[in-house]
Amino acid sequence: MKQILTLDDYDFHGKTVLVRVDFNSPIDPESKRILEDARIRAHGETTIRELAEKGAKVVVLAHQGRPGEVDFTPLREHAEILGRILKRHVSYVDDLFGEKAKQRIEALGNGEILVLKNVRTYEKERKKAAPEEHAETEFVKALSPLADAFVNDAFAAAHRAHVSIVGFTPVLRSFAGRIMERELSALSKALETPEKPCTYILGGAKADDALRISKYVLNNEIADNILAGGVAGHLFLMAKGADLGEPNDKFLEKKELLQYVPGIKELTEQYPKEIKTPKDVAIDVDGKRKEIAVKNLPTDFPICDIGTETIREYRGIIKDSRSIVISGPLGIFENEEFAKGTKEILAAVADSEGFSLIGGGHTVAAVEQLGLKSKMGYVSTAGGALIEFLMGEKLPGVEALKASASKHQ
Ligand code: 3PG
Repeated sequence: MKQILTLDDYDFHGKTVLVRVDFNSPIDPESKRILEDARIRAHGETTIRELAEKGAKVVVLAHQGRPGEVDFTPLREHAEILGRILKRHVSYVDDLFGEKAKQRIEALGNGEILVLKNVRTYEKERKKAAPEEHAETEFVKALSPLADAFVNDAFAAAHRAHVSIVGFTPVLRSFAGRIMERELSALSKALETPEKPCTYILGGAKADDALRISKYVLNNEIADNILAGGVAGHLFLMAKGADLGEPNDKFLEKKELLQYVPGIKELTEQYPKEIKTPKDVAIDVDGKRKEIAVKNLPTDFPICDIGTETIREYRGIIKDSRSIVISGPLGIFENEEFAKGTKEILAAVADSEGFSLIGGGHTVAAVEQLGLKSKMGYVSTAGGALIEFLMGEKLPGVEALKASASKHQ
């Protein structure tokens, strides 16, 4: 018996299929336009194309950002990009499960693709609950009678027990899409005892993830080095007693990240040699990059990247590593002035002879933009989900697919 059913296990021709993908992409905060379409391309060129070519009526479910954040946008542009990638018409409806959405789903012909409104516009979407509870929501109750099957291709969001990830699996025959399938098999292989020395490079804004993964890989003797950067790097610096200055403190406070400092402090005291933090940083002085040594902090300007001295030190460690995991950019990569840290560290990872595993929506976008993908060991579409997976956690989205498979075989 198969643990998870895939697109090979069902005849999708003429069937209406709800496909949950992860289109969550970096967004320009000013124009609100998509900066990089790596994830849209990944799902488009595999699962969505395959289903459309098999003659399914494809209904795409996805999220972008989180309510209240600058990158919380509708999916109209995502649908346009998907259409360009697939070179076929992709329609969009600004409705998730109301009458408009239902009519458009019912009107779909074989091989047609419809993208629904951002699933996170539904206020209960992000509630963490069991599949059976989510199956009772108005969202699932409205859409499931119109569909024959559910495909979850969103490995990158499989760590979220959200309605659109697990809620359809108790009521619809459910399958893993090609990206979900590829990630699960590649990452299971990548997990098998990493070669030493092993270095984890942790950047990005999700500092809670950075703390949890650091703790796990250090306590389990998986990683020999942790290189901190990005917003996570700010917190690691604070944990070591640095005063970052008012704009940075305010930023961390607003993002509710200061709560992680005590945990990081404990960890940095336990592993002083293994955890490396920036020696210098780049600050934003009226839109221009200026570097200062950490010992000269605090600053009245926002810290936006790691500095040249830090890049040099990190590059040396990367060069000597036999396996490398990198998740999250080291600075504000979207802004050319502050892209240097991410670019140079990714270039060092690409040049290294060790096996490299890259994750995180923004990191993957940076790898694509720099044309480094072919030089990396494995590039995952996931960030948070990858971290959970690396920590041996069960992913609710994957567990839900397993439960459905055992029911439908
Ligand atoms: C990601 O980018 O890691 C996924 O899309 C999940 O996003 P989330 O952390 O907002 O749930």
